[in-house]
Amino acid sequence: MRIAECGMRNKKSEIQNPKSKIVHPNLSVDFAGIKLKNPVLTASGTFGYGEEYADFVDLNRLGGVIVKGISLKPIAGNPPPRIWETPSGMLNAIGLENPGVEVFLREKLPFLRQYDTAVIVNIFGCSVDDYLAVAERLDGAEGVSGIEVNISCPNVKAGGMAFGTDVKATFELLSTVRKATRLPLIAKLSPNVTDVTDFAKAARDAGCDGLSLINTLLGMAIDVRTGKPRLANCTGGLSGPAIRPVAVRMAWQVARAVSLPIIGMGGIVTAEDALEFILAGASAVAVGTANFMNPRAALDVLDGIEAFLAEYRPGVTGIEDIRGKVNIT
Ligand SMILES: Cc1cc2nc3c(=O)[nH]c(=O)nc-3n(C[C@H](O)[C@H](O)[C@H](O)COP(=O)(O)O)c2cc1C
Repeated sequence: MRIAECGMRNKKSEIQNPKSKIVHPNLSVDFAGIKLKNPVLTASGTFGYGEEYADFVDLNRLGGVIVKGISLKPIAGNPPPRIWETPSGMLNAIGLENPGVEVFLREKLPFLRQYDTAVIVNIFGCSVDDYLAVAERLDGAEGVSGIEVNISCPNVKAGGMAFGTDVKATFELLSTVRKATRLPLIAKLSPNVTDVTDFAKAARDAGCDGLSLINTLLGMAIDVRTGKPRLANCTGGLSGPAIRPVAVRMAWQVARAVSLPIIGMGGIVTAEDALEFILAGASAVAVGTANFMNPRAALDVLDGIEAFLAEYRPGVTGIEDIRGKVNIT
């Protein structure tokens, strides 16, 4: 039976269960200065602004919500089809559709603020100035716990190459955003690079407080009957369980290369998937594509982590006890 299916409910941390005599670990995490009640978040772009899921999920139980990417001005996104299901995953080319930072602050953030969960705002832009303006606008906004910078966007001024696939552009972008905000700054790394640790080091040198990885892998699917690409945009980002081994490998490499805390993501569906990232060195995890199949996926992962630790690692008192403890002999 999969861990996520074993049906254990979340129990209060540190409370001794008189029947089993098991001490439930305290799953809270201080992530780059952000207090997370547990290490399970929802990944950007897969959980809207929280409100879309609030009828199905008690948002108070989540460690945090990383909201859909926000830009300076509203963006309509790409024409359909924008999603294509692939073996153990999906391709998407939503095109970063969003209402812009002003509408986010006015109409989306107040809803999320009602909940006892960390709100991390994912931001992006087409130029350094765009990113800077969004970060400045968020700085000091009540209820924002941190900023996650999506560096996988095309740098319009540099001819369209993504910021996150050029080490120098990554450093320059993140150094500038760093100056715009006192909020904890988390760089979201792209997997579409030769050596992800170079980008992790650039983010560290630019003054980031944490890292998120991975974003989607660039992919393409073609309908052989019509000869047309499955996505109107031709290419899209691959996510879901198909990418998990790549993501775990990158989290492991980055954890060994830099000491910044990591939010691990990429194909997490069950608690065991999440624990792979934590053993690889991540301090927290984010559930993405799985939310589309099961709106409660993040809570199932959380319940499953508690159940797993209670059953298999009864001595563990917190996430730090197992973080990075992949057993390499
Ligand atoms: C439909 C969709 C929209 C996404 N939108 C964003 C986004 O706005 N900003 C961002 O940084 N990542 C975005 N992502 C990437 C996810 O946050 C996550 O990094 C990636 O999907 C890997 O995790 P998963 O396999 O669990 O989905 C999006 C992913 C999907 C599937």
